[in-house]
Amino acid sequence: MITLNKISKKMGVRLLFDDVTVAFSPGHRYGLTGPNGAGKSTLLKIMMGLEDADSGTVTLPRKVGFLKQNIEQFKDMNALDVVIMGNKRLWDALQERETLYSQEMTDAVGIRLGELEEIVADENGYTAEADAEKLLEGMGIPASEHGKKMASIPSDVQFRVLLCQALFGEPDALLLDEPTNHLDLSSIQWLENFLHAYTGILIVISHDKHFLNTVTTHIADIDYESVITYPGNYDQMVVTKTSVRKRAEDENKSKDKKIAQLKEFVARFGAGTRASQVQSRIREIDRLQPVELKESNIQRPYIRFYPPEKPSGQIVLKVEDVSKGYGGHPVIKDFSTEIMRGDKIGVIGNNGMGKTTLLKMLAGVLQQDKGKVEPGHQVQIGYFPQNHSEIVDKKSKQTAFEWLKSRKEGVYDQDIRSVLGKMLFSGDDAFKPVAHLSGGETARLIIAGMMLLNYNCLILDEPNNHLDLEAVSALSWALEDFKGTVIVASHDRDLLGKSVKKLIAFEKDKIKVFDGTLEEYLA
Ligand SMILES: Nc1ncnc2c1ncn2[C@@H]1O[C@H](COP(=O)(O)OP(=O)(O)OP(=O)(O)O)[C@@H](O)[C@H]1O
Ligand SMILES: [Mg+2]
Repeated sequence: MITLNKISKKMGVRLLFDDVTVAFSPGHRYGLTGPNGAGKSTLLKIMMGLEDADSGTVTLPRKVGFLKQNIEQFKDMNALDVVIMGNKRLWDALQERETLYSQEMTDAVGIRLGELEEIVADENGYTAEADAEKLLEGMGIPASEHGKKMASIPSDVQFRVLLCQALFGEPDALLLDEPTNHLDLSSIQWLENFLHAYTGILIVISHDKHFLNTVTTHIADIDYESVITYPGNYDQMVVTKTSVRKRAEDENKSKDKKIAQLKEFVARFGAGTRASQVQSRIREIDRLQPVELKESNIQRPYIRFYPPEKPSGQIVLKVEDVSKGYGGHPVIKDFSTEIMRGDKIGVIGNNGMGKTTLLKMLAGVLQQDKGKVEPGHQVQIGYFPQNHSEIVDKKSKQTAFEWLKSRKEGVYDQDIRSVLGKMLFSGDDAFKPVAHLSGGETARLIIAGMMLLNYNCLILDEPNNHLDLEAVSALSWALEDFKGTVIVASHDRDLLGKSVKKLIAFEKDKIKVFDGTLEEYLA
């Protein structure tokens, strides 16, 4: 069982949790939901002890596994070590032991080595390698890969290694923060099956409705400063939540009606002879006061992209025999196409096939090895990178407001405020340091930048990662509505379904350009 007892937490000026008490039981699979910035990641970090609550306590089972998000951090390590790192106490002891053995042997070193041996034995260190190998193989990663550096294995395999890390040492609970962001459709399906078989406590954050519906038995929804648990999956939660609200609204309506009647009685007889009846009705009116219903915590941003006055030429991008590879391994070979003004193109395909590489070359931020990418007349490209930190420096001290200001010379402050407001950065939120923004908030800021600048060609690489459902649907409308050219890579059917009329599909051994919608392509 994981229990949170009277947890309160403030972040900056914002109160995220107010006296939250909630329990998570073994055998249940919980989806942790709530709009962007509600505090989902923060709550997981509090459970993991990576972030302190302002007050309240957390009780945890013996061992909890946590899926790390920063795959980058492990790129120089081999897969087997990454898995063993999942047991921090063991890993630290092993590292220290290695350093000590390379030093001169003194009494102090000898004593310390003795202590370390004890920890290693205590944490099953002698079978660690064999245990880790077994996990990796169970995850479909053959022994030949175990000694390879993370950077040299495909990204979906890296993800599986990190999942093994979280599972190392048989944790009683597994906490996952947006695991599907790095996965293509087939890997998501694989993960769904895997999680179904997990028997401990699972808590998973996701904005992927389909994934939540498939995996979860319960939803823990962050609603204002509280956490409410609902039995059932995401769709069932929405139904329950709506009907609870409807009932409260109906009750309020009938109270209003009753109060009006009572007030009329009081007004008519207040000055007259029926004093005691009037008094009792006044008391009744007080008692009946309708409960104040908070507005829904779900908010939808307003997204609209404004192209510059001068449209681009008829041809937006001319791609001629373009090739690109990494370390001798070709990713894109002799690809040619012409992207025309007004095209709405979806880029699809499994992980690691080269979607990001292609988009970067189209956006002009990556040089091809061979061939030409030629932008047409007056083409102004706005680029949304898959990895947000490529344009929002999370180490800088800039606020959201300053970041936008630095993107456009001579822009008026009120125009920045207006676009921030549309993207739900109201009041003081505009002055949050970019370093503190959640994943979804960072994505909204990048979109705000694309709205502020006037582009006639938008290139977006998985923009829906991190965004909540409301934001994804607002984005999909905006792309459909946009008068310029759009090239968007995504796995999200809701996003591509409506807006896209043409596809660049990375298939097994070729890149296919398909004239038609996603539905037509899949058929
Ligand atoms: N160090 C900090 N100082 C001030 N505010 C912070 C800090 N860290 C996070 N926040 C704010 O706390 C809120 C909750 O952040 P958190 O990352 O938990 O959100 P989330 O629900 O996981 O959102 P998302 O769906 O976008 O991932 C956000 O509004 C964020 O801007
Ligand atoms: Mg988060």
